[in-house]
Amino acid sequence: MDTLILNENENDKAARIIKEGGIVGIPTETVYGLAANVFNSDAIKKIFLAKGRPSDNPLIVHISKLEDVFKVVSVFNEKAKILANNFWPGPLTIILPKNKQVPNIVTAGADSVAVRFPSHPTAKKIIELSGVPLVAPSANLSGKPSTTKFSHVLEDLNGKVDALVNGGDCKFGVESTVISLLEDVPVILRPGAITPGQIEKVIGNTLVDDSVFYKMEKDKPVLSPGVKYKHYSPDAEVIVLKGERENYADFVNKIAGEKEGVLALCFDEDISLLSTPYISYGSKSDSFSQAHNIFDGLRKADKVCAKTVYVHYCDTDGLGLAVYNRLIRAAGFKVIDLKNKI
Ligand code: TXA
Ligand code: MG
Repeated sequence: MDTLILNENENDKAARIIKEGGIVGIPTETVYGLAANVFNSDAIKKIFLAKGRPSDNPLIVHISKLEDVFKVVSVFNEKAKILANNFWPGPLTIILPKNKQVPNIVTAGADSVAVRFPSHPTAKKIIELSGVPLVAPSANLSGKPSTTKFSHVLEDLNGKVDALVNGGDCKFGVESTVISLLEDVPVILRPGAITPGQIEKVIGNTLVDDSVFYKMEKDKPVLSPGVKYKHYSPDAEVIVLKGERENYADFVNKIAGEKEGVLALCFDEDISLLSTPYISYGSKSDSFSQAHNIFDGLRKADKVCAKTVYVHYCDTDGLGLAVYNRLIRAAGFKVIDLKNKI
């Protein structure tokens, strides 16, 4: 199909396409999303098809004003109000009981719905002009790294969707923090730019789900269906290496002498020690830059036809936890601790 390419001054066109049952790639402050009317199941089917997304993986609903949350939830409790007051609009998704109007295809049959109020002006405008909340999963082919530059979106979705809106680079570069408020103690299901520390400060005791750190056993029930699937993966094999810069560089340099197609996905500080091809994903001390670059780095690995990508492990404080979570998932949880190798 022909995909219409729009700029950020053509939000009315994007909204018209959505109103008519089309699907449109839009920029947000986290990653690009692929948007459709939440109440139009036929349009939503097209999203699953374009992404190749498993139908049991539910979608996030995006709103452009707080009161619209009641178009999709049946309960908006005290903790939800506090989170919304502190972090909306912004990169936080809240899971709450859904109301009857939300079609099953949105929630993959669950009784809960994930809601987010993005801060990106273009995203907000398109939602507002569409006149309804919009579902928007990340605008990438299922399993691939999320899209944070317009070139990534074109690569994955040109010819598969009705329109794509060019909003340049996404600010944060990792998807929103997802928190479930379905139980008494809130649970973070996916780390993002709103950190566990920031959340605990305003609503108190909050858990971080095991799936953020560890591979879930097959057939075990999961709180967030998205964690079951291989994710963020380039075609190359990805392995995370934990250790100081000298150990990291020694390991990568040595292995590059033994096999072909080795790429270091490293920090700026590692570059001077590496004798292999490399791509930096930011400074070791700056998790904001790492979040901003990580998906682009994983995508570039395929562009240079890397066979094995050795990623330098990042600190897991604050926003670093979100970066670390994407790394270990891209690596299928293959992490080598270099301390044990010496
Ligand atoms: O930043 C973001 O959240 C981006 C932008 C476009 O807004 N969207 C995004 O959507 O990352 P997606 O579909 O790629 O990821 C949504 C995640 C999935 O892991 C899904 O399983 C989980 O949220 N999710 C959605 N609804 C849920 C629900 N009712 N219960 C548990 N998990 C849910
Ligand atoms: Mg996604």
